[in-house]
Amino acid sequence: MTQTIIALKEELTALITAANDLQALDEARVGALGKKGRVTEMIEGLGAMNPDERKTVGPALNALKDDIAALIAQQEKALKKQTLDARLAAERVDVTLSPRPEKRGSIHPISQTIEELTTIFADMGFTIAEGPDIEDDWHNFTALNFPPGHPAREMQDTFFMPDDPEAEGERAKKVLRTHTSSVQIRYMQTHKPPFRTIVMGRTYRCDSDMTHCPMFSQIEGLVIDKNIHMGHLKGCLNDFLKAYFEVDDVPMRFRPSFFPFVEPGAEVDIRCDKSAGTLKIGEGDDWMEILGCGMVHPNVLKNCGIDPEEYQGFAFGTGIERIAMLKHAIPDMRTMFDSDTRWLDHYGFAPLDRPNRATRD
Ligand code: DAH
Repeated sequence: MTQTIIALKEELTALITAANDLQALDEARVGALGKKGRVTEMIEGLGAMNPDERKTVGPALNALKDDIAALIAQQEKALKKQTLDARLAAERVDVTLSPRPEKRGSIHPISQTIEELTTIFADMGFTIAEGPDIEDDWHNFTALNFPPGHPAREMQDTFFMPDDPEAEGERAKKVLRTHTSSVQIRYMQTHKPPFRTIVMGRTYRCDSDMTHCPMFSQIEGLVIDKNIHMGHLKGCLNDFLKAYFEVDDVPMRFRPSFFPFVEPGAEVDIRCDKSAGTLKIGEGDDWMEILGCGMVHPNVLKNCGIDPEEYQGFAFGTGIERIAMLKHAIPDMRTMFDSDTRWLDHYGFAPLDRPNRATRD
């Protein structure tokens, strides 16, 4: 009997190691260990043996079964690696090859603008923060000093989501964030002042026309430190706007305005010239609204555990599509999301274009 087992082991080993694809290996497995496999049948034959014989043959057969199973697993691993190696070799891409001209990709103006904003604010010492697109009512409204039932909540054309069954109260009420200001809260709760940070990301409002889309992007800035005042806000915005619009000067006008999370709040207009049918920023007789800003409201600081007696700060926010449209003379915001390659050929940027840097005196 032992001889038979040794011979069978040799035979099965040869069969398994000769299997050169997964299908052949599976056939070998079924032939050995399957319901009607040779090892299985021998194990079933144990019942007919006398107890003495069973005592020696039983363990030998079990060892055979284990050895064969281990061998199959080993061969399977080797075959899978071989298949993967072959695939990796066959699908190799030479990234050093120059792109085929007919396949030239281009960078979307929004991506380009985000790159530029990142570079400008990084030069000014800002970090970049992120937060979730699906936000809760508390972060999007309440913590930002929007009282319950306040009309400003409705002003934002909010997309409301189903409640989160695992959370309670205002944190269970989910919305698609209507602005990136919600990330101010998340940042202040998790960082100790002083800090300066920007947030760029998608925001959502139920609105659609030439200058509004249900999904759009915003940039938000937040600076918290000791003894911060409107002068710092003005200087920061001036540096940013000059760098972004690539002009030597951008005269600004601060108009008082209301946003619940800042006090005082303002809208900023910049000087522009629309007389020649094209838009020139920084010169001319017209004014154009460009962003919202203000000094962070003490209630907002308190909601985030920051003592307003010790720290103050400013915040600002604007639409990324909006400033991209102004800079690149794109008339309709909706075309940004049409995925029309002709549009992208016209407005897109070469992949290796360098973004602007902040030019500071
Ligand atoms: N969150 C405002 C909006 O979406 C924009 C804004 C206004 C942001 C004033 C600010 C700010 O940080 O201070 O309309």
